[in-house]
Amino acid sequence: MNSDNKKEDSMRVFVVGASGAIGTRLVPQLINRGHEVIGTSRSPDKAKGLRALGAEAVVLDALDARAVREAVRRAEPNAIVHQATALANGRFGRSLDRTFAQTNRLRTEGTDNLLAAAREAGVPRFVAQSFANYRYAREGGMVKTEDDPLDPTPLPNTVETNAAMRHLDEAATDAGGIVLRYGGFYGAANDGLIGPVRKRQFPIVGDGGGFGSFIRLDDAAAATVLALEHDGPAIYNIVDDDPAPVREWLPALATALGAKPPRHFPVWLARMFAGEANAVMSIESRAASNAKAKRELGWTLRYPSWRQGFAEAYANPSASNITRFDRARTAA
Ligand SMILES: NC(=O)c1ccc[n+]([C@@H]2O[C@H](COP(=O)([O-])OP(=O)(O)OC[C@H]3O[C@@H](n4cnc5c(N)ncnc54)[C@H](OP(=O)(O)O)[C@@H]3O)[C@@H](O)[C@H]2O)c1
Repeated sequence: MNSDNKKEDSMRVFVVGASGAIGTRLVPQLINRGHEVIGTSRSPDKAKGLRALGAEAVVLDALDARAVREAVRRAEPNAIVHQATALANGRFGRSLDRTFAQTNRLRTEGTDNLLAAAREAGVPRFVAQSFANYRYAREGGMVKTEDDPLDPTPLPNTVETNAAMRHLDEAATDAGGIVLRYGGFYGAANDGLIGPVRKRQFPIVGDGGGFGSFIRLDDAAAATVLALEHDGPAIYNIVDDDPAPVREWLPALATALGAKPPRHFPVWLARMFAGEANAVMSIESRAASNAKAKRELGWTLRYPSWRQGFAEAYANPSASNITRFDRARTAA
């Protein structure tokens, strides 16, 4: 089963971050499945785009605890899904903690605000966005399940970012919710890797042996619909079937984007230019297994491997990567 099938028990789903990369794909899939959606954005302009998708729209800052309580109380949802991040136009430098500072607040304070509002309004279901790559302990096999330990000693300049994700994972599951550890998103016009790979700013470091998992946004949204319909608490890796080392996926991505092949940097040089964390993750990071999500959610992937997915997503971007939300906003 995938999320195209209609569901009998329709819910009112409060989507925080409905205007983002995953949110704009999640909202139509929820509606298509027979659910009502209340979508949030901080911008009245983007709220119009959400209405064009068929959602009710609320202007909301997830860091404003009182406004969150009020909005959730008024919306009377059966479920809340937390997809708020602050990564648009993010500049990835030596410090991940600097790049993720605002996202870390959304994952800590934002999660706490939403959980408090859910508790107060008696909302029984809660699903939150987390991340799978770079988080599992850098020992043993290269592909990790949800039961494998997280990195006990995160690298310098990633400590706060890891702590924020751990907080979200624990707070959401302690409250009976579901945490989705997504792989690296692709399939949108603003995919984070497009710019750096086109500009050859993303090198293969050392043997390029660090592993990563990807997920096409449409498949990530389908898994999210299924998670919303599933009882928690639980953690799921939402990744495709093809965990792979940097030395395989990065040249394939460059080819799909029509870019020159990536440069090769020795580890010492990457340490000097990109910092310890970026260098070490390029050679040691672990990827994730999706077996549990397939088994327990009944999730099937339309794009099981980035090997076909990259080529398809970037061959004709205007057809596949521009959402109805983008078109509605451009037309407005
Ligand atoms: N797993 C992954 O690989 C992963 C995860 C997340 C993002 N990304 C990447 O990061 C890039 C940017 O992501 P994006 O386009 O989704 O944009 P984004 O700037 O990260 O925003 C995501 C969503 O969070 C909302 N948001 C931000 N701050 C908020 C706040 N204080 N309160 C409530 N909502 C808030 C945004 O809404 P408004 O701005 O409308 O208020 C938007 O709906 C994309 O390339 C995306 O693929 C990757």
